[in-house]
Amino acid sequence: MTQPTLSFADTVRARRSFRAFHSTPVADDLIAEALQDAQYAPSNCNTQPWQVHVVSGATRDALSLALHAANREGRPSPDFSWDEGAFTGRYLERHREHGKLYYENLGVAREDRQRRNEAAAVNFSFFHAPHVALLFMPVFGDSVRVAGDLGMYGQTFLLALAARGLGGVPQTVLGLYADTVREVLIVPQEFKLLFGISFGYPDEGAPGNLQRVGRDPVSANVILHR
Ligand SMILES: Cc1cc2nc3c(=O)[nH]c(=O)nc-3n(C[C@H](O)[C@H](O)[C@H](O)COP(=O)(O)O)c2cc1C
Repeated sequence: MTQPTLSFADTVRARRSFRAFHSTPVADDLIAEALQDAQYAPSNCNTQPWQVHVVSGATRDALSLALHAANREGRPSPDFSWDEGAFTGRYLERHREHGKLYYENLGVAREDRQRRNEAAAVNFSFFHAPHVALLFMPVFGDSVRVAGDLGMYGQTFLLALAARGLGGVPQTVLGLYADTVREVLIVPQEFKLLFGISFGYPDEGAPGNLQRVGRDPVSANVILHR
């Protein structure tokens, strides 16, 4: 390890979803270190099913253009279904609270459909991050266990970034355009796209980064049996 990193407690608290970045690219060796850390993620039977494409420079720009076009032209191609309307109860409340906070910080009114769509489309500019990792996976069974493994990998990578003063944001939205991503990166059809992680140096003062969403107390999610 060549770079100093934060303590574990500081790292988990420093990680949050950043949605505005400086254009300065991250040095290759720093990205390599974070990727090395992420390799320690656990997986079912140690299958390590993640296939990660890290995209920077001209390929990143080409991918962004292709994704904007696919979004504009209404050509989604998700490998896995995604239904935001399915959330109910407390889950729906949390979803709404997070969306309200984000658009309020951006100064976008709830009823302003056009500006909300424009703000959402920044996902396809990777929130101006210089790098994006696309997390692909092979298909085994109903894919649920494999997707769990990719979640383990994604969080380990995000923490590895946070420990080094970097930041990222996981993006299911990128996974909704799987064919577009496969085409630009020349990825075989057998690999399915779950989500992406845009990353770089966060622009801490930007409106898109003012958001600090809360968490319920442990007792809301954890039942202790003795
Ligand atoms: C698998 C996954 C997919 C996500 N997809 C998106 C996305 O497409 N766009 C986005 O802006 N945020 C996305 N997020 C970020 C969540 O909104 C964020 O994690 C949540 O609001 C909690 O905030 P925090 O990460 O700042 O703690 C995603 C998070 C996860 C874990």
